[in-house]
Amino acid sequence: MSIAPSSSGTMKPPRGRPLLPIIIAIVCAFAILVLLYTETITFLSPTSIFKIKSCSRKNNVKKSNDKTAENNVDESLVDDRFEFDPEECNVANGKWVFNRSIKPLYSDISCPYLDRQVSCVKNGRLDSDYRHWEWQPEDCTLPRFNQELALKKLRDKRLLFVGDSLQRGQWQSLVCMVESIIPEDKKSMKRGRSHSVFKAKEYNATIEFYWAPFLVESNSDERIIGDPKQRILKVDSVSKHAKHWLGVDILVFNTYVWWMSGLRIKSLWGSFSNGEEGYEELEAPVAYRIGLKTWANWVDSTVNPNKTRVFFTTMSPTHTRSEDWNRKGGLKCFNETKPVMKKKHWGTGSDKRIMSVVNSVVGKMKVPITFLNVTQISEYRIDAHSSIYTESGGRLLNKEERADPMHYADCIHWCLPGVPDTWNQIFLAHL
Ligand SMILES: *[C@@H]1O[C@H](CO)[C@@H](O)[C@H](O)[C@H]1NC(C)=O
Ligand SMILES: *[C@@H]1O[C@H](CO)[C@@H](O)[C@H](O)[C@H]1NC(C)=O
Ligand SMILES: *[C@@H]1O[C@H](CO)[C@@H](O)[C@H](O)[C@H]1NC(C)=O
Ligand SMILES: *[C@@H]1O[C@H](CO)[C@@H](O)[C@H](O)[C@H]1NC(C)=O
Ligand SMILES: *[C@@H]1O[C@H](CO)[C@@H](O)[C@H](O)[C@H]1NC(C)=O
Repeated sequence: MSIAPSSSGTMKPPRGRPLLPIIIAIVCAFAILVLLYTETITFLSPTSIFKIKSCSRKNNVKKSNDKTAENNVDESLVDDRFEFDPEECNVANGKWVFNRSIKPLYSDISCPYLDRQVSCVKNGRLDSDYRHWEWQPEDCTLPRFNQELALKKLRDKRLLFVGDSLQRGQWQSLVCMVESIIPEDKKSMKRGRSHSVFKAKEYNATIEFYWAPFLVESNSDERIIGDPKQRILKVDSVSKHAKHWLGVDILVFNTYVWWMSGLRIKSLWGSFSNGEEGYEELEAPVAYRIGLKTWANWVDSTVNPNKTRVFFTTMSPTHTRSEDWNRKGGLKCFNETKPVMKKKHWGTGSDKRIMSVVNSVVGKMKVPITFLNVTQISEYRIDAHSSIYTESGGRLLNKEERADPMHYADCIHWCLPGVPDTWNQIFLAHL
């Protein structure tokens, strides 16, 4: 319902100046996206990995020796890429390969935990090719996702995804990828407004999600404000959220799309943090840098890297400008059924300024952060968004709305099963 006011705003034809139609289009697209996101789920995002690993990884690898060894042998017979090693292999460098015999580990019918927002098949999507693409890094083989191995790595641990609806997607994807091997009475799910917990009882493991779309505090966290103009961020405050992140063994963060409304960000800090009038409007990358630094300071001062692994999922690309992939007469990502094949394709939905802020802020942190750099691999996947097979304001798009993809197609979120499964495949390989 909070979606209605905002989407009607975005639906108005850009009035005024024909001056910068492209910019206007981008702003509108983002506004719509942000609206969509807000009411819906936010899950994980991209998956390329970058950095640091930890002693715990090696231990885990040893423990699960038997299984991984078998897998690796199989794969090494097939090609000459080396075995996956998170420190050696740049996962982002590779290609999507179509393989009809690849079956997702779940469907939106079989997994009871998926939100309607991402349940594309249930919502009427008929084409299925988007579910049969496999990411192949150029220099190494990425191990297939192994459900048992995943649960073993999570044994006696709390895993918490923190962020927006894309992060929520990654969380649901991971839950659905493992839940089918757990008997009914050995698992549970508790959904909360901000905090949701899936338990795998026999493994004494939890896979959790915490909603904090900006990571830092804002007036649009619990009760989402549809109109981005009304949102105010406390760019120097994170403790209200962060107290829920304590004692977790594996933390996975993201934040991106909510900063990209196209507007300047109303930012509060210091002694103004209690007075709404004291805000300053900052360009998104500037506000983002301050907000991310606030998060980084919290991590550096609070997280014990000997106990807790910290991951950061990079931007999940949005695909709202079909010009980006030279589709003449295209309607955003609507009706796309194949990934972009052009190497290094990069569209306007992934803001390089934000990526560089992430690199610079995280690069100066004390606590090692492992990037799930999913941006490049997901940039290719114009075919995998929920598009018109989604909901708005708590109900499925109706016929008229579906006939108007320019306004209603969701080219931010991903169908599940889908691209976030690959993010989790990469995540597991780094655990
Ligand atoms: C496609 O996937 C199947 C099943 O996992 C595998 O056996 C086969 O080698 C794959 N084909 C290619 C061309 O990668
Ligand atoms: C279950 O996992 C928690 C960490 O999430 C740990 O503190 C606790 O000791 C574990 N319980 C058992 C019985 O191993
Ligand atoms: C982490 O472990 C290392 C090596 O055992 C130790 O030197 C260091 O003090 C520990 N750090 C913290 C924050 O406990
Ligand atoms: C969508 O794609 C199908 C098949 O490629 C085509 O027949 C149809 O006209 C397209 N729909 C629109 C609205 O472009
Ligand atoms: C993620 O990967 C892209 C290219 O694939 C690169 O430009 C970017 O710097 C990487 N970002 C991070 C934070 O590692």
